[in-house]
Amino acid sequence: MTKILVTGAAGFIGSHTVDSLLASGHEVVGVDNFRTGSRENLRQATASPRFDFQVMDLTEVETFTGLVRSQRPDVVIHLAGLVSVQDSRADPALNVRLNVGGTQAVIDAVISASVPRVIFASSAAVYGDSDGFPLREDALKQPLNPYGEAKLASEALLAGAARMHGFTAVSLRYFNVYGSRQAPDSPYSGVVSRFVDCCRRNQAPVIFGDGRQTRDFIHVRDVARANMQAALLPGMPSGDYNVSSGQETSLLDLVGLLRAMQPSLPVPKFSAAQSGDIRRSVGDPARWCAVSRFSPRETLSAGLLELVEYHSTESLAASQLLPSCPTKL
Ligand code: UD1
Repeated sequence: MTKILVTGAAGFIGSHTVDSLLASGHEVVGVDNFRTGSRENLRQATASPRFDFQVMDLTEVETFTGLVRSQRPDVVIHLAGLVSVQDSRADPALNVRLNVGGTQAVIDAVISASVPRVIFASSAAVYGDSDGFPLREDALKQPLNPYGEAKLASEALLAGAARMHGFTAVSLRYFNVYGSRQAPDSPYSGVVSRFVDCCRRNQAPVIFGDGRQTRDFIHVRDVARANMQAALLPGMPSGDYNVSSGQETSLLDLVGLLRAMQPSLPVPKFSAAQSGDIRRSVGDPARWCAVSRFSPRETLSAGLLELVEYHSTESLAASQLLPSCPTKL
């Protein structure tokens, strides 16, 4: 049994990672400050006697180091951070404090507690306006926002500390992650969660731009499995790895898949393209596949169908619980 400390444990990717680790029989210490994560995401995990949870902010460096020293985990999976690209633009200093400062806090703690391995949640945002598709790890890195810059800086800080202090540092560059527990209700939510929510409401999805922009969608369970493999594989080499499906899907294709599942979904509306939007994104997963024998298990159509069905069951249950709407309050 391996003991793994997960930062950002109550978040979208964090909670799925915790669930996978517990299901495989490991001991997990979860840390989260609930800035964007929720207790609801940890409902399954908290039922396990092998799960310990601490409400904590990584930027309280001494407290966090104290926790890592007392728990002595075999691996730290560092997923905590400012997740919104828009927030990173609105408040670049907060982005540096949470996304670079948070990584430095993890580095200080693992050195102090002699933790042998760190897995870091990096992002396809490090490539930004790159070329040569599918993107390989050595492609040009030109982030288009402070979030991507902070992820790139964190990768460099981790790799440097790993070389100097002799631990293993693995940065996993997730592409567009989708799946359950991804909040659909913010203007900054991921496109899959927003469009699936349109299915639930039977409202027209709004496409920013012409819909021919592409993304590489990867299911959150595949990402959780990649995190677990990176944490547990014997002799895992330090380095940067794409965690991607290798499949390039346009937004028009995404809407097409959803309309095939729910023919009543209204045709999409088109709105102005978002500034700084990436035109193409698809990652080559070959490096990670070679090290881990990883191949994504979840196809986009099966993953979407599961989400659409999950949300329709949820809204049916809610409508049966709620009294009918009063016409006047
Ligand atoms: C996503 C991530 C970001 C990550 C990056 C990696 C989210 C919210 N953002 O950004 O954290 O760093 O990948 O490259 O997961 N769109 C619409 N209609 C909508 C919503 C979005 O047309 O209602 C479009 C966007 O303009 C964009 C595409 O869908 O062209 C994808 O948008 P989004 O899901 O926000 O992801 P990224 O911008 O790729």
